This record gives sequence, C-alpha cells and structure tokens, in this order.
Amino acid sequence: MTTSSLATIRPRERDSLLQSLRAGVVPRLGQQHVQVGRANEVQALLSDISRINDGGSGSRFIIGDYGSGKTFFLHVVRSIALQQKLVTIHADLSPDRRLHATGGQARSLYAELMRNMSTRAKPDGGAMSSVVERFVTQALTESRTSGEAVEDIIRRNLNELSELTGGYDFAEVITKYWQGHDSGNEQLKSDAVRWLRGEFTTRTDARIALGVRTIVDDANFYDQLKLLARFVRLAGFGGILICLDEMVNLYKLANSQARNSNYEQILRILNDSTQGSASGLGFIFGGTPDFLLDPRRGLYSYAALQSRLEENSYAVDGLVDYSGPVLRLASLTPEDFYVLLTKLRHVQAAGDESAYLISDEGIAEYMNHCAERIGDAYFRTPRNTIKGFLDLLAVLEQNPEQRWQDLLSGVTLERESNPDLAPLELPDHGGESAARNVAVPPATGSAGVQTQIPNPPNDAGDDDLSVFKL
Ligand SMILES: Nc1ncnc2c1ncn2[C@@H]1O[C@H](COP(=O)(O)OP(=O)(O)O)[C@@H](O)[C@H]1O
Ligand SMILES: [Mg+2]
Repeated sequence: MTTSSLATIRPRERDSLLQSLRAGVVPRLGQQHVQVGRANEVQALLSDISRINDGGSGSRFIIGDYGSGKTFFLHVVRSIALQQKLVTIHADLSPDRRLHATGGQARSLYAELMRNMSTRAKPDGGAMSSVVERFVTQALTESRTSGEAVEDIIRRNLNELSELTGGYDFAEVITKYWQGHDSGNEQLKSDAVRWLRGEFTTRTDARIALGVRTIVDDANFYDQLKLLARFVRLAGFGGILICLDEMVNLYKLANSQARNSNYEQILRILNDSTQGSASGLGFIFGGTPDFLLDPRRGLYSYAALQSRLEENSYAVDGLVDYSGPVLRLASLTPEDFYVLLTKLRHVQAAGDESAYLISDEGIAEYMNHCAERIGDAYFRTPRNTIKGFLDLLAVLEQNPEQRWQDLLSGVTLERESNPDLAPLELPDHGGESAARNVAVPPATGSAGVQTQIPNPPNDAGDDDLSVFKL
C-alpha cells in the first residue's frame, strides 16, 4: 500500500504530528499526512467553504460517537479553510464556555475563540492584530493612490457595519486602532485589539480606554461574531469559519432553561445561515449522537431544531445525503485503519520508504494483536492504538537491534473509556439517565486524558492543498 508515499514531510511537521498523536491529541496541523477516508464529507465542507468565500453562510453538525474522528475532521476542515483564505476561530464548549449565558460563560467562549483566531499566515492562533493591521494597511494603500485621508477611507469602508447591531462601536474601535497606529500610540492599538478579543470586563474600562460605551458580553456574543465576519471580508479575507467542538457540554447542562437558551441560539444561527442573513460566516459543530438525538436533553428536545435537523428520510439503506446540515461520521473501518498505520509509518520515516521500521506484514500483525486485546475498538476508537503503534515505532527506532516480531507481544493496549458516559447531574430526569449510566466502564489509565501540546511556529504559505486526498 503506497497511498501516501509521494508526500514529502517536513521535519517539524513530522515531529509535531508524532508528538500530538503519541500524547493522544488530535494534531492541529499536517493532518493531511495521516488522514484516511472521509472523502465525501470533506467534499461537502469544501462546497461550504467556497460558499462562505462568496459571501454566503452555512452550518454543519458533525455527529459521531466518541472516538469516531469528529475533532480530527474539524481540524482537517479548519486547515482547508485557512488555505482557502478564510479566517478560522475554534473552541471547545465546556461548562464555562457556552453559546448563551448570563454569568459570563458566553463571553468566555468568545474570548477563547478570539485567542484561537487563525489565518493562513498564522495558523496557530493569535491572528486578531494581524487581521486588523491588514485592514488598516489596505486603507493606507488606497489613501496613497487616491489622496483621501486614511481615516475617511476607514470610516467609509466600515460604514456597512453600522446597519448591524453593535456595528457603530465596532467601527469606532477599529478607528481607534488606526489612530493609535497613526500616532504611534501602542497602548491605544492594544486596547482596541483587547476590546475586539472580548477581554474588557467592564464598560467603564472600555469607555476610559476607547471612548465606547459597550463591551463584548454574553448578550451580544453572536452579533459580535456576525460583525467580525463582515469585518474580515473588509480586510480581504473570504469570511470566518467557526469550529465549535464538544457540543455535548450543552446536552450536559442540568438546568433545562440554560440548555434551551443555548439551543435557541443554535436555532438563530441555523436560521441565519439558511436564510442567508449572515454574510461570510460558517459554523461547524462537533457533537455526539446523544447531543443531537436525545429527546429530553439533545437538540431534538427543541422542536424547531428537530424539524430542521431531522435526517433526510430517503437517505436510508445505504443511500447518503451530504447536503443536509447533519453529517454523520461513521467509525473508521479496519481497511481505513490499515491505511492509517501505513501513513504513520511513512510520517515516522519522514517520507523515506527505505527507512520504514516495520513491514506491511508487521502492520497486519499489529492489527491482529490489537483485535485480540481490545476487539473492534482498535479501529473504532483508534486513539490508543495509534499511540501504541507510534510507541512501538519509537522503540524500534532507538533500538535498531530489536525486531518488531519480538516486541509486538509486549505492546499493552487499553480500551478507551468515553468520558461523556460519566454520570450526569440530573435534577430533571434523574432515574432514567442514571439507569443508562449503569454500563459505564471504569475509567482506564491514560485514556481520555488530554494534554495540550503547543504547536510549533509554522512557516506560512507553503502548505500545499493538493496533498489533501479527496
Ligand atoms: N479520518 C482520520 N484519519 C486519520 N486519523 C483519524 C481520522 N479520524 C480520527 N483519527 C484519529 O483517531 C483518533 C480519534 O479521533 P478524534 O477526532 O479524537 O475522535 P472524536 O473527536 O470523535 O472523539 C485520533 O487519534 C485521531 O487522530
Ligand atoms: Mg473530540
């Protein structure tokens, strides 16, 4: 199998891929080197991305079981979006980060999204200043040819924002950034960026620093994202793709009113994107089947969402429909997993086939070993089996006298436990769900522990979209 044998792998990409996967974390960059399957799903998202680039919008729900590859898929789509000149922002939902809240949790989600703002040139986040800078630079260039004052150009360009809620203050803050730029006032520039990133916590501070009366808070969370989408288009990008993972955290909210307010926010987003009233704005949500389908706590518990998200009733018996808002991710197959291991071998060898540490036969043996130890889980929830394989390769690399045949039986594997199955706090329907949780497997060793590995700085611009296998 030589699926990925043509791909060249840069040393830094190799190291960060291996480091992430060995730590059980989905890689942020370079996923194309290990990606398998999902051709139709990627195709569907490519068309969303081009619609967003054309000033349109779109929302997708990526639904799959624990370990089926949702997070991986979101990162793949995010990488493609960056290549296609979108700005991306991403965050995991958590009890402290929600789409709707009254205690600061929506602002906190917003701030997390802003920290992760990325562009092709800054794929690791922290791109807000460079986006604003780019907007200002364009106005400067225009001013040089037309002779018009920069501030006038900026105000005119931002004029279209004033029709949107919060647009006036948004434009005011960008103008302040320009004034800081013009007068060498770094403090003013950084205050403007801090405001845009949702980092002001009181109106008083914002008024003193920037002369505006509002701040980004829970109540204007979504309006602010719409403004941002327009703004990045004015700065020369195609739009914004917003990736929200771990949506199951909304399903876990014990308070039904809090849950419903969040679902109402999702409905607003979905309506805006189908009616085309959000420009250059796309959402992808990653969540488990429970989050979508559960009639008491899932999106289906909210009637208006259920009717919009219900699957195409003709898409049964092997027929598929990739045009609806819900994309179901099937588990990877053993064939996919085999290809995945060949790709890992290739990455580990930095793209040099003569440096492969294990034969095709060895890969097949490794799969057998996994199947004996943990059954189907080895390809269905492959985080630990990927890690185990890379650990094996690492030992082979550092101990050239060792043969894989001798090491294989010593590879220990643990079945993954799904952290979402931990008991919920259930004032509403305690009995029923408590019963469902009886079958929870005990938490095992390292499974489920997420270590965030900082990404190495990335040299921009030379990532090649053509290496994405479609
Ligand atoms: N299409 C894919 N190609 C290659 N590896 C994948 C793919 N999908 C998932 N993986 C790997 O499988 C593991 C589990 O995927 P993950 O995205 O964390 O699942 P989920 O978010 O659904 O729980 C990760 O190690 C990830 O790198
Ligand atoms: Mg995940």
